[in-house]
Amino acid sequence: MAEPIVKKKDEIIRIKTHISGFDEALQGGIPRGHITLIAGSAGTMKSSVSFNILYNEAIENKRTGLYLSMEQSYSSIINHMINMDYDFTKVNLIVLRDLSTLAKDIRNINASTTGNIIIADVGCIRKEIKDVKLDENRSWLNVMKNIVKKIKLESKLDLFVLDSLSALHVLSKFNNPRIELFYVFEFLRDLNITSYMITETPLDGSKIGDFNEDFLSDGIIYIHLASYRRKQIREIQVKKMRTTSCNHDTFSLDFRNGKFYAEYGGQNPLM
Ligand SMILES: Nc1ncnc2c1ncn2[C@@H]1O[C@H](COP(=O)(O)OP(=O)(O)O)[C@@H](O)[C@H]1O
Ligand SMILES: [Mg+2]
Repeated sequence: MAEPIVKKKDEIIRIKTHISGFDEALQGGIPRGHITLIAGSAGTMKSSVSFNILYNEAIENKRTGLYLSMEQSYSSIINHMINMDYDFTKVNLIVLRDLSTLAKDIRNINASTTGNIIIADVGCIRKEIKDVKLDENRSWLNVMKNIVKKIKLESKLDLFVLDSLSALHVLSKFNNPRIELFYVFEFLRDLNITSYMITETPLDGSKIGDFNEDFLSDGIIYIHLASYRRKQIREIQVKKMRTTSCNHDTFSLDFRNGKFYAEYGGQNPLM
């Protein structure tokens, strides 16, 4: 089920980042089926940028996206998104907090006439299945894989956000993270799901990932906070994007009136 080989370059299907000015730096977007790291330190809006893709793809292209949260509760995510003016009446929003409702949720997706966003709250799921003694090696990885696979095979799943890959490392207690991660990426590629893996980096941005995820991934989008005297500016950059002729320059990242903008040029503030 991997992405087919194209005859011409304009046949490559791209999924927009929905950041105005940034898709232009990526020949229109990220190739479908890619696994992209959304890397940056805390508070750089990695979760927001990723969710923004699922939201806009659900509205514009009726796509189905799964947002798997390992560190933030579903209510915290939804409140954050409402504060950012997202309108959840325009999409079919499903909260998955109990695996026993998954079959019903899948029927709900299949019956929906709009795009779908499924928020899976791993914190809730963990509490619910605690008695089953799942806290052993790799168990969280299996829970994640089962959710992804079931939705993909019994319904549809175009986009997947893992928030975060860093938390998955901690919770899953991988024996050999490099190998386990390789198989996670293989699994997502086999299912042909366009994926965004949120990766926490140190504040100084000295490294992206601990377990080779930088070279296993198809793309890396890096967001960081830059200081211009007293001002802090969010900046975004394509570090890597396979199958794409990209502009690797640094853009400032702004969110206003419900939309992300990547801006280029102009004067540095206060300088
Ligand atoms: N309505 C809003 N408009 C712009 N920025 C916002 C809004 N609400 C929250 N934020 C910013 O979003 C940041 C958190 O974004 P988040 O996506 O959770 O970051 P990360 O996932 O990288 O830690 C906050 O630090 C705050 O500055
Ligand atoms: Mg986050």
